[in-house]
Amino acid sequence: MSEYIICVFGSGGVGKSCLTMQFVQGVFLEKYDPTIEDVYKKTLECDGKQYDLEILDTAGSEEFSSMRDLYVSNGHGFVLVYSITSQATFNEVERYYERIISIKDVDKDGQPPIVLVGNKCDSEKDRIVSRETGQNLARKWKCSFLETSAKTKLNVAEVFYDLVRQINRS
Ligand code: GTP
Ligand code: MG
Repeated sequence: MSEYIICVFGSGGVGKSCLTMQFVQGVFLEKYDPTIEDVYKKTLECDGKQYDLEILDTAGSEEFSSMRDLYVSNGHGFVLVYSITSQATFNEVERYYERIISIKDVDKDGQPPIVLVGNKCDSEKDRIVSRETGQNLARKWKCSFLETSAKTKLNVAEVFYDLVRQINRS
């Protein structure tokens, strides 16, 4: 069975833990409890094959550290999350992207598997970042893009299926 390590990055409060927990455990937490660091495991069947996923749910508040660089070098795929209700979190995904690109050998290994995720898309009335803005950034990075809601489950599993397929191709 293939084992894939997936790192979830993004600013504090964008919904990294909720997305991960919705995917792994099928629950949504309303209460905000900032993460220090959590690892989740889930077996996924994708296109008739089984995958053991190890999902690293990181702390949005934490600055880049040697620890985090180690996550990046060990990671097979990356979920970069912002909230569609916050411009600042959209601006901040760029630093995560740049860090990944600077650590992975893009010349040798090609573009690392990445899904750009605009979360909280159930909060349409509080939307600040348009869908098109997200799409344009993904186009620039040549990565996948999904708008999700950890609350309603919209596109949550799709993020991980997309990533597994990208890792298989890489
Ligand atoms: P850190 O661990 O501090 O980096 O934050 P995080 O990115 O893990 O955020 P977390 O998943 O803890 O969610 C933060 C808050 O946003 C919580 O109050 C959640 O209930 C809420 N939230 C997360 N996802 C969604 C969503 O899809 N829709 C809505 N409406 N709220 C969400
Ligand atoms: Mg968290």
